[in-house]
Amino acid sequence: MKTLRWLAIAVPTLFIFIQFLGPEKTNPPINPPRTIAAHVQIPPEINAIFERACQNCHSHKTQWPWYSNLAPISWFVIDHVNFGRSHINLSDWAQYDQEKQISLFEEICEIVEKGEMPLEPYLWMHDKAHLTQQDIRAICEWTMAEQKRLMSEQQK
Ligand code: HEC
Repeated sequence: MKTLRWLAIAVPTLFIFIQFLGPEKTNPPINPPRTIAAHVQIPPEINAIFERACQNCHSHKTQWPWYSNLAPISWFVIDHVNFGRSHINLSDWAQYDQEKQISLFEEICEIVEKGEMPLEPYLWMHDKAHLTQQDIRAICEWTMAEQKRLMSEQQK
């Protein structure tokens, strides 16, 4: 009985306490000349796919879900976003040199073909983010065309 009473106090206290820990949510300001749209032609259907399936983790336009306010779930969500942005950031495309852009285009196609993006746990909560075969084909056709364009620019 004593243990139970102790737990009944300790668990909620701990829960409240951890709300003050962990990483912070951010939406850094967007500087239009630095976005991918300022550097690359993105067809509307590709843009729509990015908006519904990728930009929450790979841009500064993150729409934070309610559970991103609730530790410890928030820690996973915020980590995914921070980690996602650090790997590829559509709002800060200007940081990548040509070489890096080519390799990112290659990886975008590869990763969606393998079904590794969007991340599985994200799909549990975001039905709209599922990619169809047609979406994947459209992404790869676009990334390959962009890779080719960048490589031909390099040769000039
Ligand atoms: C829930 C957040 C989330 C979503 C949604 C998401 N990603 Fe990611 N993405 C990550 C994280 C985290 C990483 C880095 C860790 C890893 O590789 O697993 C990553 C890595 C990547 C990489 C690897 C970049 C590199 O440096 O190697 C690519 C490419 C990528 N994502 C593309 C996409 C695309 C395209 C979409 C949409 C179809 C998407 N991601 C949706 C979180 C996400």
